[in-house]
Amino acid sequence: MIVTPITAHRGLSSLAPENTLSALRLAAEHGVQWVEIDAIACGDGTIVMWHDNSVDRCSDGSGAMSQHSAQSIKQLDCGSWFSEQYRGEKMATIEEAIVLIQALGLGLNLEFKLYDNSVDTVVAPVLALLKKHWTDFDKLIISSFDQPALEYCHRQQPELQLAKLYEKIPENWLQQMQAINAVTCHCDYEHLQQSQVVELHRAGYEVYCYTPNTAAAVEQHWDWGIEGIITDYPQKFSALLSTSIPGDRESGTEKSI
Ligand code: G3P
Ligand code: MG
Repeated sequence: MIVTPITAHRGLSSLAPENTLSALRLAAEHGVQWVEIDAIACGDGTIVMWHDNSVDRCSDGSGAMSQHSAQSIKQLDCGSWFSEQYRGEKMATIEEAIVLIQALGLGLNLEFKLYDNSVDTVVAPVLALLKKHWTDFDKLIISSFDQPALEYCHRQQPELQLAKLYEKIPENWLQQMQAINAVTCHCDYEHLQQSQVVELHRAGYEVYCYTPNTAAAVEQHWDWGIEGIITDYPQKFSALLSTSIPGDRESGTEKSI
């Protein structure tokens, strides 16, 4: 799999409110080629582009996602918490996000967050939406911390590129990765160790890490030979964009970050 080494985490979330259509557009405007977004369910089954299991942190409303519906989320202001410039920004459904990302020509790393919901409730409708709207499946990675969600994706569409998310890599990582025929392992940069990168590569998996936001953190992990970073600041690490193939790193050009 050849992708850009930089993915904008929750869209370009350092310059626009995370997981909004504005954050996706801004990523494209900055030349970022891939975006990561989160998909979760509201109480009425609508799947939205959103990270938390409540609307409290990133909107002017309150309450658990289970208390919200397609209608109520559209009443929320999801921008002014971030800056006045984004006052009135609406929460987007996952369908709106998928359609926009496709239109912008970006790659999509879609992360499922189940919280208390079932795989059938969250994953099945999104796979149907992807079938309807998405055309280039080389530019799609489905990721999750939730093993059953990924196993469901693998059963339904074995051709999907799947990524297992870990905070700390558990002892049974190889078994879990094999069960979903994963292509990549997405690891918390604060816990990832160089020896684990070696082991993952030896087993044939690409390694991404989330969410390094400083040059020092990015450079350390890049020097370990990871294939990609998922960051809130893709605009700060644009020099990496020109070295999309790991073998090119021997030229040393990535050192300019
Ligand atoms: O996909 C990487 C990263 O997004 C996982 O953590 O909590 O930011 O969704 P989180
Ligand atoms: Mg995420």
